[in-house]
Amino acid sequence: MKTAILIAEDDDTQRLILHDILKASRYDVKATASAKDALQALRDDTYSVLLTDMRMPEVDGLELLRQAKRLRPELEVVVMTAYATVQTAVNAMKEGATDYLAKPFDKDELLVTIERAIERGQLKRENTQLRELVTASVSLGNIIGESAAMQRVFNIVQRAVNVNSTALILGESGTGKELVARHIHFSGPRAKKPFAVVNCAAIPDTLVESELFGHEKGAFTGAEASRAGKFESANGGTLFLDEVGDMRLESQAKLLRVLQDGVVERVGSSTQRKVDVRVVAATNRDLRKHVDAGNFREDLYFRLDVLTVSLPPLRERLNDLPLLINHFREKLAARVGKVCPTVAPDALEAMKRYRWPGNVRELENTLEQLYILTDGDAIRESDLPEKLRVRPTTEQGAFVLPSGGLVLEELEQDLIRQALARSNGSIKDASELLGLTYKTLQYRLKKHEIDRKGDGEEEVE
Ligand SMILES: Nc1ncnc2c1ncn2[C@@H]1O[C@H](COP(=O)(O)OP(=O)(O)OP(=O)(O)O)[C@@H](O)[C@H]1O
Ligand SMILES: [Mg+2]
Repeated sequence: MKTAILIAEDDDTQRLILHDILKASRYDVKATASAKDALQALRDDTYSVLLTDMRMPEVDGLELLRQAKRLRPELEVVVMTAYATVQTAVNAMKEGATDYLAKPFDKDELLVTIERAIERGQLKRENTQLRELVTASVSLGNIIGESAAMQRVFNIVQRAVNVNSTALILGESGTGKELVARHIHFSGPRAKKPFAVVNCAAIPDTLVESELFGHEKGAFTGAEASRAGKFESANGGTLFLDEVGDMRLESQAKLLRVLQDGVVERVGSSTQRKVDVRVVAATNRDLRKHVDAGNFREDLYFRLDVLTVSLPPLRERLNDLPLLINHFREKLAARVGKVCPTVAPDALEAMKRYRWPGNVRELENTLEQLYILTDGDAIRESDLPEKLRVRPTTEQGAFVLPSGGLVLEELEQDLIRQALARSNGSIKDASELLGLTYKTLQYRLKKHEIDRKGDGEEEVE
């Protein structure tokens, strides 16, 4: 791809010379005679470098530089001036020019300066790309994770931030559903408006509607004064409907109406009040199954299932453990004002063998206890609580079922991953370790969506 250069020079002869020299050096060149034409060209096309004269009638080079930078901040600008006073050049550099050429200059000076400006632009772009890559790969706000599964989450969450559609967050307990909901609200355009939370599982069925939509005085026994619901109080902001899967069917119908029409009716009133509330719903239930079982309205499910964020359980992203451990270590250190111990490799291995039914919340609580209880500068396997130290053991060759039971399917996946890890990704070696034929293992890898690296996800760089 050729590099495009834009020239702004009011003198016809000079413009033509510049054009021909640059063209002969295989650049894509567009030559304009005024700031106005140059700005139009910048609007129409993409250029790497703008080469502009300082003294031009009407709008001069300095003003063109300012406007061009506003229009295309990434543009490199080289100014040419017949008045090679330091001051003119300094002014231009202050306004963001990359370099300057003092007239008269020869062909080589011109080409070297242009080449340097192009290189600088490339470097700047690479740097920002690198920075974006780094920040995108380990966290999104307070949400931590570098696994491929979390990268997918970040991707959808980022898209959810700037739109108004309902978002649905799925995931087991402790996987970060509320954390994601808060991120969506507090980094989006509604951040300065209220963020309200209703936990549908924590409120008695009969009160959910009053909580959401409000009620009029005397609407039911105990309704002594009329009250606005969360939909009204969250107006302009976001309502986080936690455990939406636990809402009973009648309330679901009313919720659907609000989502469709944007109006609420308080319990005991038929006055319709317009509300502008973005709903972010969450549940740890399998909503689809819930629909199939007749416990959740299909139409509401479709309404909610627009932007769906599925948070992976911690046991499916164990490669995020070191990062999470470090995050909670720093978080606690800041709170208690002391340096917290590190997690030694043997303890980390034990943590990787554990199933983490309570997910990130359980990890955070476990670490907090360990940080407080451990005296040395490292947490070892022997410091860990009982649950983390028991391993599925074999006794005289027989596999012993752990006291808490297990999920056979997960055990299978786990053993396959271990076998792959031990055989460096070789299916043949892993199949021997597992007493399977090559074909059978291959089939099971596909079935469990495990890739050969053994983490079940495609690799991220
Ligand atoms: N990816 C993550 N990075 C950092 N902290 C996390 C992450 N996921 C969860 N946490 C932390 O774990 C704890 C539990 O998260 P949260 O309350 O969002 O979970 P939840 O999915 O809403 O759980 P529940 O279904 O039990 O309500 C919080 O302290 C949260 O900050
Ligand atoms: Mg929650």
